[in-house]
Amino acid sequence: MVYDSQVKQVIKIAPSILSADYAKLGVEIDSVSSADYLHFDVMDGVFVPNISIGLPVLECVRKVTDMVLDVHLMTTSPTRYTARFANAGADIVVFHVEAEAPENITPAINELHGLGKKAGLSIKPNTPVEAIVPYIDMLDMVLIMTVEPGYGGQKFMPNMLAKIAQLRDLLDSRKLTCDIEVDGGINLETAKLCIEAGANVLVAGSDIFGAENRAQRIAELRRSAVLGL
Ligand code: DX5
Ligand code: ZN
Repeated sequence: MVYDSQVKQVIKIAPSILSADYAKLGVEIDSVSSADYLHFDVMDGVFVPNISIGLPVLECVRKVTDMVLDVHLMTTSPTRYTARFANAGADIVVFHVEAEAPENITPAINELHGLGKKAGLSIKPNTPVEAIVPYIDMLDMVLIMTVEPGYGGQKFMPNMLAKIAQLRDLLDSRKLTCDIEVDGGINLETAKLCIEAGANVLVAGSDIFGAENRAQRIAELRRSAVLGL
């Protein structure tokens, strides 16, 4: 299904450095600089069964790139840290609605906006779109996880396409310009399906970092997404 608003939306590609070689992160980031966003996955080993990177790494990354830093917090009670990630150089801070008490969510979004940053909420595969609806007017981005968060290289869950389409309908009916980001198992084939369903920001870790020519793969993902229209 193709939506009119989709044609007006710009497709953005966000390589996830979870699949990069952290021992040479600066070089790895340069290799994907033709993309739009740099996706930065933060995992605490509690909200998800894996531990990744945090504030000190973000500060270093900020110094070596002008790319838009898209920080995805997979952490418990994330709003304790949202302002700190913003101040460490994030341009967009996305956190999980399941991980936070409802009363803390709106203040954190306002705080991020007050710092001049974009704010997003993410939902895991078993969380319905309804969970983010109370905040939808305030959000710059909604991240629909297309795998269980925690690890790169997992298989895309096709039943997430209906959630993307549901959210796209909701945004269109309210004339909201909020981005729909998808994350997990994105490759040339699944990118196209997600764009058709209404997403406009594609996170890809293993597909981009595992490609022989990363710049070429970024271009191919963009092209496949556009052809999907
Ligand atoms: C997984 C992370 C993703 C991960 C995606 O929990 O949020 O950003 O890097 O990896 P791929 O693209 O390999 O599925
Ligand atoms: Zn992510």
